[in-house]
Amino acid sequence: MTENALIGVFDSGVGGLTVVREIFRQLPDEGVVYLGDTARVPYGTRSPETVGRYAREGVNFLMGKGIKALVVACNTVSAVCLDEIARLVPVPVIGVLEPGARAAATATRNGHVGVIGTLATVRSGAYKRAIEAIRPGTGVTQQACPLFVPLVEEGWLKGDVPALVVKNYLEPLKGAGIDTLVLGCTHYPLLKPALEAFAGPDITLVDSAVQTARALAEELRTRGLSATEGGARSEFYVTDAPDNFGMLAEKFLPGGLEERIYKIELEVAS
Ligand code: DGL
Repeated sequence: MTENALIGVFDSGVGGLTVVREIFRQLPDEGVVYLGDTARVPYGTRSPETVGRYAREGVNFLMGKGIKALVVACNTVSAVCLDEIARLVPVPVIGVLEPGARAAATATRNGHVGVIGTLATVRSGAYKRAIEAIRPGTGVTQQACPLFVPLVEEGWLKGDVPALVVKNYLEPLKGAGIDTLVLGCTHYPLLKPALEAFAGPDITLVDSAVQTARALAEELRTRGLSATEGGARSEFYVTDAPDNFGMLAEKFLPGGLEERIYKIELEVAS
């Protein structure tokens, strides 16, 4: 039955597990089939053409798994080519960008939002466009934070080093007067304590992963696609080094993967 099929989740690597963690928390009856393109991560430093090609290949693989909906957990892919992907696949597609943008546009009191993400996400201007479309007149200040992904993957979430890097990236946003900050990258929720410590109580952090799981729940409900049987068995696929993925995954989704990580080759898309 379609409603008991798995939800496809696509990411450039391990970071999309922050979205899976939220899906499991908010929708405990659902199972996912996850693909992390670990052979080609990071996407955030690549051109829109390359990100688009990689994403098409990954999504083709997930479609072959008979998924009932697709979550594009990668902010870079959501920012660069979500519309193209949505046109390609016959199932509902939920990206991380729109839910995060909507939450930020609602949360801001002074009409000035900050967005942090990878270089490709920031260069695409997609968050800025989405927030301005939802709430015209909102000021959006963006900042690429390329050092955050390696910091998180190294497990440097606390202490002097993350505090200093956070200060460097966030100081201009704070100076610009933002009162809301969108964490526009899969990895950033793990840095929340360091980000909150610098941002202080006057800046609201918007976690795209939380908002995306909410949007997914709503989409499944409206389309009559919510699972009717619990206990779906999730599957995790990577394009390289499943052992490294398994080790890193523990930081993002403690105890969530067990032994279900398989390595696959993606078919080349045109
Ligand atoms: N998953 C990416 C994102 O959310 C971060 C890692 C990468 O650059 O591929 O933008």
